[in-house]
Amino acid sequence: MGSKIGRNDPCWCGSGIKYKKCHEEFDEKIAYIKSQGHEVPDHSIIKTPEQIEKIKESAKINIAVLDYVAENIRAGMSTEEIDRLVSEKTAELGGIPAPLNYQGYPKSVCTSVNEVVCHGIPSSDVILKDGDIINVDCSTIYNGYFSDSSRMFCIGDVSAEKRKLVDTVKECVEIGLKMVKPWGFLGDMGQAVNEHAIKNGYSVVREIGGHGVGLEFHEDPWVSYVSKAGEEMLMVPGMIFTIEPMVNMGTAKVFCDKKDNWTIYTADRKPSAQWEIMVLVTEDGNEVLAY
Ligand code: MF3
Ligand code: CO
Repeated sequence: MGSKIGRNDPCWCGSGIKYKKCHEEFDEKIAYIKSQGHEVPDHSIIKTPEQIEKIKESAKINIAVLDYVAENIRAGMSTEEIDRLVSEKTAELGGIPAPLNYQGYPKSVCTSVNEVVCHGIPSSDVILKDGDIINVDCSTIYNGYFSDSSRMFCIGDVSAEKRKLVDTVKECVEIGLKMVKPWGFLGDMGQAVNEHAIKNGYSVVREIGGHGVGLEFHEDPWVSYVSKAGEEMLMVPGMIFTIEPMVNMGTAKVFCDKKDNWTIYTADRKPSAQWEIMVLVTEDGNEVLAY
């Protein structure tokens, strides 16, 4: 890393400062950690301060769209109506919903009810009813920059059992977030998330994870929540990724709907919950950009 750039050349980060006075030491530290056998980020996923500002603007819209959903979601509403709320609010704020047409995805948001783990497609046939839990997963493109976060909503009178699942997954994300700091590893976060879920008697989905985000919808690294401390990619300042564990009440096993090729269900049809935040690794810890 950094081997092709002269010490007096402008730094790769776009600061305009000479490499030797900017990221040379940083790159050497990363190269050393790599030589110890760790996976490390390359420059393409380390965001510049200018990029971070733009990504934050996108994230602000994503938060506002989810706030708007929170104000309006209710029993009796179809998930198709949630799609309309998301698409209208995003457009009003000058953004584009990232899911629409993404790899053929037909709607502007994912709405995953009860035993749907993720990627539920909004439909006029799916009516929210008292006792349902739903994940609404929003992603926004603004001026070419991407943001992504999701929240759970409890519709009316939700059983204590399902409510506990929803609350515990939120705690998993908060506990994982505490492990996000420069020069740690993604596995530090993943293990913390996993341990909290297991401790509460739940299981964590293995096949679907989080991801880098900002310049693209889905960038490296792929982020696991069944990983081990000290493993997976090194975290360095300027990286942005999601913490979005899918936690199941029963088995961790899931399957994809053969008819639509998107909707993921729990194998035992027991409930699943997910919260998603988008986090920036900073010089001294982290900053949540979207939630
Ligand atoms: N928003 C999801 C995520 O958290 C991705 C959904 S892909 C889509 O990564 F096409 F279904 F929108
Ligand atoms: Co995501």
